[in-house]
Amino acid sequence: QQYDIGLIGLGVMGRNLLLNIADHGFASAGFNRDPSKVAAFLEEGKGRTVFGTSDMKAFVEVIKKPRAMILLVQAGAAVDAVIQQLLPLIEPGDLIIDGGNSHFNDTNRRFEELKAKGIHFFGMGVSGGESGARYGPSIMPGGDRQAYERVKPILEAISAKVNGEPCVDYMGTGAAGHYVKMVHNGIEYAIMQMIAETYDVMRQVIGLTNDEMHAAFKAWNQGELASFLVEITADVFLKVDDKTGNRLLDMVRDVARQKGTGKWTSQAALDLGVPLSTIDSAVASRYLSSYDAERSEASKILTGPSPMPFTGDKQAAVQLLHDAFHVGMIVAYAQGMAMLHQADKAAGFGLNMEAVARIWRGGCIIRSKLLEDMRKAYSANNGLPNLLLDPTIGGLVSRKVPALRTILKHAIDAGIGAPALGTALAYFDNYRSNRLPLNIIQAQRDYFGAHTYERIDMPGTFHSSWTPE
Ligand code: 6PG
Repeated sequence: QQYDIGLIGLGVMGRNLLLNIADHGFASAGFNRDPSKVAAFLEEGKGRTVFGTSDMKAFVEVIKKPRAMILLVQAGAAVDAVIQQLLPLIEPGDLIIDGGNSHFNDTNRRFEELKAKGIHFFGMGVSGGESGARYGPSIMPGGDRQAYERVKPILEAISAKVNGEPCVDYMGTGAAGHYVKMVHNGIEYAIMQMIAETYDVMRQVIGLTNDEMHAAFKAWNQGELASFLVEITADVFLKVDDKTGNRLLDMVRDVARQKGTGKWTSQAALDLGVPLSTIDSAVASRYLSSYDAERSEASKILTGPSPMPFTGDKQAAVQLLHDAFHVGMIVAYAQGMAMLHQADKAAGFGLNMEAVARIWRGGCIIRSKLLEDMRKAYSANNGLPNLLLDPTIGGLVSRKVPALRTILKHAIDAGIGAPALGTALAYFDNYRSNRLPLNIIQAQRDYFGAHTYERIDMPGTFHSSWTPE
């Protein structure tokens, strides 16, 4: 028996992805060093055409040639180690697909190293967590186009579907797949942070209970804001702690961890020269949260306003918050997608932005109804530099942005920091400005360092002596 595809790394994600593949009728071979993981996979895979082993040679031998092998091992050194183990056993023309959250620089390096050996290499973003992997993730593959055609039927079969359309498409050359997944995660961080800020305003300014917040997010998920993150947030408010009987959310420490993909997005944006303030502030907020001992000290020394009892119309306030969050969410996507547009120009990925928006509509963590309009915007103009320039999206944001201004005023008066929503508004206001105050920065630079400046009324570079006569 020969198998259509192999997968290395039968941890939670790997096992679920391979079972998903087997469910769709593809003969599936799995490898794991740990025999107990192999046994668990074979047990769950009963009744399907599956094979499992802890012997790398046996694994490689049962895969149909030219072979296709997915790696789902921890990003970093483990990926290189597995590739080194595979190399003596595989042949030119075979395809290795790294389905983990690898850094795009590593993917580029591996792509080039393996190309020199005649081995095809794919960096493939897979989003949707455990249940996504099992029942339909969003898949972002990038690398050699011809090699993609070989695995396309499998990837299309296992991916999530929206209106019958698979949430997978070829992203582009080199590290395009992992780059798109990295930016996906940056947007994920920003939306999660803005939900946290929205929760803070609901709880501290409007004074909503967990049940009321559940109801608000549940209602939001029925409308324009329908999205995975809003949906799971609604659930989070209801969970009761089996240890204390309180709501579990209230028992969770306020320190947010990270594995680094959001940080990578910000780092890459700085290198590219792309403003990514909303995502940056989400990363910074996680860092600030980790200074909990200092925050506790500061809370005793530093003073500021506290929320006042809310006397207004709660429903109206929740509606304003809805619109404010709506704007913030669009800005998060707009910044991430603008970054992809610039990265594509710099790296020559050949990105199809319509495809990016299309495959993010289902299966992934940032799936949302909003992506349908974004998809249409790129369908009309693949070279759109920023989603805010699309008449439909820009018009919607312009109409709803007053709500964001009002909410931020309330947050400021209550002494609540809302960095991601705040920078979303600042980004919007500065992006729509044709006269920023940065002329004074040019003047200062020229003053202290003769760095020169340009004039608004004539071409050329100028230098002046700025010291008073
Ligand atoms: C996904 C997620 C996933 C990511 C987690 C954790 O698309 O399924 O993006 O790949 O690893 O969300 O990320 P942090 O630990 O950095 O929050």
